Amino acid sequence: MPIAAAGSLVVADRRVPRLGYGTMRLTGPRIFGPPADPEEAKRVLRRAVELGVRVIDTAWYYGPDVADELLAEALHPYPEDLVVITKLGGARGPDASWVPALRPEELRAGAERDLRLLRLDTVPVAHLRWLEGSGVGFTEALDALLELVRDGLVQRVGLSNVDAAQLDAALERTPVASVSNAYSVLDRTHEDLLARCEREGIPFLPFFPLGASPVRSGSGVDADERVSELAARAGVSRTQLALAWLLHRSPVLLPIPGTSSVAHLEENLAAADVELDAGVLAELDALTPPG
Ligand SMILES: NC(=O)c1ccc[n+]([C@@H]2O[C@H](COP(=O)([O-])OP(=O)(O)OC[C@H]3O[C@@H](n4cnc5c(N)ncnc54)[C@H](OP(=O)(O)O)[C@@H]3O)[C@@H](O)[C@H]2O)c1
Repeated sequence: MPIAAAGSLVVADRRVPRLGYGTMRLTGPRIFGPPADPEEAKRVLRRAVELGVRVIDTAWYYGPDVADELLAEALHPYPEDLVVITKLGGARGPDASWVPALRPEELRAGAERDLRLLRLDTVPVAHLRWLEGSGVGFTEALDALLELVRDGLVQRVGLSNVDAAQLDAALERTPVASVSNAYSVLDRTHEDLLARCEREGIPFLPFFPLGASPVRSGSGVDADERVSELAARAGVSRTQLALAWLLHRSPVLLPIPGTSSVAHLEENLAAADVELDAGVLAELDALTPPG
């Protein structure tokens, strides 16, 4: 398998390569509406699977509906070993704003929408996508998600955009299939959460793995420039450097880079074969002090 060199880990009882794919960039501008070239979007999805990707992160609210529909059109019936991960807890305003949808009935409606769009009977993993300020408590939302598991709409629960204390609170109630927070060589805010996932052996799927995050912990323009310089020194692209650093950083990390182009996808997945020398790794580590 082309991306086997990335290593593997177990997600939802399936052993999968440690490089995944996120569908968020397949929609129109601002993650709203359809893309200019839906056929290219479907080619991206098919090529990802061809190259060995077995974890695809998506959400009904990308588009809305657009990313899930493209995923189903491109890949349904899905390969048996593909783990489709959705997110519940978010929604979109008519102005493309991101709004919470964490009330029990909203979570259930989101799961039903994912199932319809993805043409699935049950969602393999649903991440509870936490957003502050909804008026719903974390454990209340989690319990509502667990009800969806009991009712068979969802097979396993994961968490997204949480802190280590919320992970601990969740673990008191349920096994956690995976965790997904922003994390990259330019944003190491969630270092303590990563350490917690390492201790528990929980796969951590960093979103914004290429550095699309608006947050840059302890870094800035200089760090950005340094990443480009180090990529040139290592003879790889910036995105390959960012992904190779993540793969090296922890065995529980499984990056889910997003792209709307086959060329970028192929470039990114080639990061599996990138070996960074100790000097470059040390400089990348020093770029953004943890947390
Ligand atoms: N749980 C959550 O709350 C949450 C939040 C955000 C995202 N996510 C998930 O995480 C995934 C990854 O995050 P992301 O897509 O926002 O950020 P990302 O992977 O860090 O970066 C994606 C951006 O980088 C560009 N890009 C990708 N490959 C490139 C390359 N080789 N050269 C140049 N540019 C390249 C893409 O543009 P092109 O399309 O032009 O390649 C896109 O604008 C998302 O797709 C989504 O599934 C989850």
